[in-house]
Amino acid sequence: MSTIYAVANQKGGVGKTTTAINIAATAAADGAKVLLVDVDPQFAATRQVGVSYGDLPLTIVDVLARDVPAANVIIHDVHGFDVLPARRDLKDVALALVQALGRESVLRLALDPLADEYDAIVIDTPPDLGLLTVNALVAADVVVAPVSAEDEGAAQGVLELRATLHQVVDRLRAGKPIRLVTLMTRWSDDRAQAGDMSDALAGADISVAARVKLRVDVQKAAGRRTPFVLQHDRAARDAADQLQDFARELVAGDATAQVIGDATENTEAAA
Ligand SMILES: Nc1ncnc2c1ncn2[C@@H]1O[C@H](COP(=O)(O)OP(=O)(O)O)[C@@H](O)[C@H]1O
Ligand SMILES: [Mg+2]
Repeated sequence: MSTIYAVANQKGGVGKTTTAINIAATAAADGAKVLLVDVDPQFAATRQVGVSYGDLPLTIVDVLARDVPAANVIIHDVHGFDVLPARRDLKDVALALVQALGRESVLRLALDPLADEYDAIVIDTPPDLGLLTVNALVAADVVVAPVSAEDEGAAQGVLELRATLHQVVDRLRAGKPIRLVTLMTRWSDDRAQAGDMSDALAGADISVAARVKLRVDVQKAAGRRTPFVLQHDRAARDAADQLQDFARELVAGDATAQVIGDATENTEAAA
């Protein structure tokens, strides 16, 4: 039975794609069978793991809009994990889905047949709370929300995401709880605003599971088409270790999480 992780935050540039790719790469390197699913029309995850446009006879567009089985679309063994790629016209699918029956559960149904194939399915989502992201939230067991230490409004953003998760749990998951794990990205110790931001998160009852340092190497890695944690010539060993440690904690079910949609709400649990 696979555990499904949706990496989500309606803000762009907070580290979703970086987090998704490095969770997938870490879990795969540790021996898990992993699928990375890209549901962002910007297809950054697809590009950053080195799957190029020309290699894509079929994509998640065919899965969501044309009922093509996900298994027929998956690209196998990209850096040790499998990839369900996206491309730009996924944007049109999002519009077409609005008309579809059960439009919020299309992805969940598409991933169902893969539950025995994978230990972990990691979904990268677009920077909004639209239908593609909601499809990921409906399918997920755990939502990983990266927040950028540079974003003053991060706490407010997580509160909005949490409100959406409540609705998703109540209306679209028949009450089935979901776990929310918050990861601080682009973290720098000497930045005063980062301290303020931590206070704001704590004030909103948001526990940060882990932090990843702001390192220009992480950014450069994105253009190198190999997950950062797998780049052995990297200089920023600390950020790589932090990403890796977080991924391991997450997959082990040890990351600090908030359970949404459960009687024990607001109590902390491991995800
Ligand atoms: N720890 C980090 N240090 C430095 N840059 C980072 C770090 N994490 C992410 N980035 C960079 O920040 C930008 C946004 O990250 P990305 O993962 O693409 O976010 P999102 O998917 O939320 O838009 C990218 O340029 C990425 O390479
Ligand atoms: Mg992204």
